[in-house]
Amino acid sequence: PSSLIIAPSILAADFARLGEEVAAIEKAGANWIHLDVMDGHFVPNISFGPAVIKALRGHSTLPFDAHLMIDPCDPYLEAFAQAGADHITVHAEAGPHLHRSLQRIRALGVKAGVSLCPATPPGQLSEILDMVDIILVMTVNPGFGGQKFLTSQLPKIEALRAMIDATGRDIRLAVDGGIDAETAPLATTAGADVLVAGSAIYGAGDYAAAIRGLRGACPA
Ligand code: DX5
Ligand code: ZN
Repeated sequence: PSSLIIAPSILAADFARLGEEVAAIEKAGANWIHLDVMDGHFVPNISFGPAVIKALRGHSTLPFDAHLMIDPCDPYLEAFAQAGADHITVHAEAGPHLHRSLQRIRALGVKAGVSLCPATPPGQLSEILDMVDIILVMTVNPGFGGQKFLTSQLPKIEALRAMIDATGRDIRLAVDGGIDAETAPLATTAGADVLVAGSAIYGAGDYAAAIRGLRGACPA
């Protein structure tokens, strides 16, 4: 459906041509640009930081959705906002103080997101639901693209959908990891309304067809 937000992850793009890759994905029908920031500490991989995001900012008008897999995150929040991130998502597990991190993100005037690793239960968010605009459920262990979707996360997506609906607030529920035309409908049927996908989109020859394929695979 057209209400479904498609957020391609540039982790699977050609890093030597990132500016073109971001412009091409906007043209292909993406809604957000998902930016996976990894520090080699919170996750066992290193990707890119605020300087790369700043360099890409001029190549697309789409919302920049920064997913910070970094610990600590607080010292870098301002740099990501200044680089042009429209959404900043931190991990509930990164700590030490999720509530403070969310306060700081909101004070920077950008949308605040919180992400949960596969081992973290949905109830972890009960006390901060009123502070978030986006909840990002990891359907793989964070750190790498191209991993297999964990169906064990579907009940968590359902639980978070119920928690969000009970607030009456406008909170997006995103899924990230192993999303393709087979797994996307499982995630949206469970309640997700944002699909993050790296390899299924940037690994495809025709980006527009891949985005249409994901959208079309999900029941309205
Ligand atoms: C993993 C990242 C994901 C990743 C998704 O730590 O957060 O955004 O790029 O890649 P795929 O879609 O290939 O699983
Ligand atoms: Zn991500």
